[in-house]
Amino acid sequence: MTAEYWDGRYADIGATQVSWFQASPDTSLMLIRSIAGASASVVDVGGGASTLVDHLLEFGHHDLTVVDHSQQALGEARARVGEAPVHWVVSDIRDWQPDRTFDVWHDRAAYHFLTDAEDQKRYWELVRASVPVGGHVVMATFAEDGPQMCSGLPVQRYSAEGLAAAMGEGFEVLETLREQHATPSGGTQSFQWVLAKRI
Ligand SMILES: C[S@@+](CC[C@H](N)C(=O)[O-])C[C@H]1O[C@@H](n2cnc3c(N)ncnc32)[C@H](O)[C@@H]1O
Repeated sequence: MTAEYWDGRYADIGATQVSWFQASPDTSLMLIRSIAGASASVVDVGGGASTLVDHLLEFGHHDLTVVDHSQQALGEARARVGEAPVHWVVSDIRDWQPDRTFDVWHDRAAYHFLTDAEDQKRYWELVRASVPVGGHVVMATFAEDGPQMCSGLPVQRYSAEGLAAAMGEGFEVLETLREQHATPSGGTQSFQWVLAKRI
């Protein structure tokens, strides 16, 4: 779906009312902090207007990148954190060609929109190229009992085993966990998390 579609979702609903909003992204922070200190470079892929970057800045991170095709979403996050040292990249994940690597690759609820097998394969090739051996991937998708759609779009749901299989070679799964996300409108969404090491 186009970036304009996502710009519209953020503008019409509001960044704190979209179903995926979290005032405090606790599971992301817990998993990232379990494997990386403040000197680690972190990229939040499909980060949108997430507050993750605010919290990582508070913890002292100074090499942060947020990638999303929605200019609206990145603009809202940027307005929040001001002149903080964050690299904002407006790009479709499928076209993004970073010219550097990252210690931690974080993706909450963006990868699951890639429902085309070729797009999925290319995504993991990009992760393999962007995260050196010893780096980590922190990933969340809708779980197998999660919603079939998000923001009006179809998603691919995963079990922990399914996500590990999708990653393919070059990753060792360190931890998996499930989370019931409470949406701003009072619903719940079942998420599957995987923390993996690049090997
Ligand atoms: C459900 S939201 C999750 C946002 C954020 N990760 C969070 O947890 O708050 C999905 C995000 O992925 C972005 N997105 C979806 N498909 C994308 C693509 N192909 N390239 C870049 N961003 C994409 C959307 O613009 C949106 O910000």
